[in-house]
Amino acid sequence: MDLSKAAQDELVVRAQAVRLNAYCPYSGFAVGAALLAESGRIYEGANCECASFGGTICAERAALTGAVSAGERSFTAIAVAADGSVSPCGICRQLLTEFGDMIVLSASAQGEAKKITTLSALLPDAFVKF
Ligand code: THU
Repeated sequence: MDLSKAAQDELVVRAQAVRLNAYCPYSGFAVGAALLAESGRIYEGANCECASFGGTICAERAALTGAVSAGERSFTAIAVAADGSVSPCGICRQLLTEFGDMIVLSASAQGEAKKITTLSALLPDAFVKF
């Protein structure tokens, strides 16, 4: 799995930009995600919180559901931007795994990508389609 430095940088910049649209009145923790589909299109998402906390949608799932709704099914990479940088939560790892492996970039809210790994490394021995 490989992604050029230019493509990585663009994904990170897009995740950092959409992070500013996060709706996070409860946690105050804004997250942005940018998901690169094999089509070449990039889909963005920001976290959207809910007074009933379990209804909160993470940035990664917001990006993914937008992409799937647009007809995408194959993905190359996802960048996640947050203050201090984060790795996708368990639910997001599981949902992303539905569509196969991909590169995962964890970036800070500003500046260069901090960490690069793969979804299969983050969720080894995953439960997959039955
Ligand atoms: N959050 C994300 O959007 N993505 C992650 O990878 C981790 C957590 C959001 C959910 C919630 O709105 C806030 O961050 C605090 O957990």
